[in-house]
Amino acid sequence: MPACDAFDSGMGMTPEKTGFLLRFHGERGRAALSVHGAGFNEIATLAWVRAGHADSRAETLLHPLERSYYVTIPAERRRNGYLLGRHAAKYALGAETRAVEVCIEAGSMGQPVLTGPGCGGRELSISHQDALACAVAGPATTPITLDLEAVDPEHTEAILAKTTQRERALCGIGLDGDTDEWATVLWTAKEALSKFLRCGLGCNLQVLEIGDLRKTAERLEGHFRNFPQYRFISWVPAPGYVLTLVLPAALELSVSTSNDSLFSKDAKEDISDVGFAFRHSADS
Ligand SMILES: CC(C)(COP(=O)(O)OP(=O)(O)OC[C@H]1O[C@@H](n2cnc3c(N)ncnc32)[C@H](O)[C@@H]1OP(=O)(O)O)[C@@H](O)C(=O)NCCC(=O)NCCS
Repeated sequence: MPACDAFDSGMGMTPEKTGFLLRFHGERGRAALSVHGAGFNEIATLAWVRAGHADSRAETLLHPLERSYYVTIPAERRRNGYLLGRHAAKYALGAETRAVEVCIEAGSMGQPVLTGPGCGGRELSISHQDALACAVAGPATTPITLDLEAVDPEHTEAILAKTTQRERALCGIGLDGDTDEWATVLWTAKEALSKFLRCGLGCNLQVLEIGDLRKTAERLEGHFRNFPQYRFISWVPAPGYVLTLVLPAALELSVSTSNDSLFSKDAKEDISDVGFAFRHSADS
């Protein structure tokens, strides 16, 4: 039984208003996210790209500095991930026609640092998983980070070994839920928080402990025990994957219907891909 069904079938959580969820259809897509609350009303962009997209070429995507790093990456898997992640990031920035002018360097903690025309005051977060990469870009005033993982049963045991009893109880692990999917939700939430904090996972993972988790109409949401000022939102954007966003707890997130000029007609159509959640995780 997928995680969402476990929620639906009596985890004692109250469904709330419909939130946003996006399905990663097609080879590439993006959607405008409305980020609002605490006096802010901003637009961020979530973009995704699949491996093999025709525009995934280093010559047309990478800034000279990125390219000089790219050619030194020894492992092909890492090299491909780097390129696909940069592709998603530049698509999220709406910079595909001037991608080589935008530079995403690694900061001292490995975090993406953005420079280039139109990039002032903007931040982004990147995640890549072999065949799929995604990125979220938006104003630095309303930061969002993300983590995408493939649901891999071979990783479940190692993930669960690093969870607390409280987390396992929250997720219904040990009952009859889909343990692999639950474990991936926990892991992506911690990875996305570690990107927000910039510490990565090189810390005591208990510090990143999840404090609460609930099901709204179409997504899983939660907070962190030691960081109540942040929250996370998880869903299944494509079969076999879990995506988690972390953002300030005071901010609401929804798919925007804004006419932001960043979006092409095609891209706007991506925005209509709402309404998919864990209950669709078995889609082919
Ligand atoms: C940072 C980390 C959480 C990334 O997660 P991941 O699942 O490995 O990889 P993802 O594809 O989701 O994310 C990679 C992107 O995160 C970003 N990133 C890397 N370090 C980051 C940091 N400290 N803060 C914010 N973002 C970071 C980068 O943009 C990176 O992509 P790029 O290198 O192509 O630019 C993880 O690699 C990590 O913890 N690194 C620290 C090393 C460590 O302590 N490892 C112990 C593992 S138990």
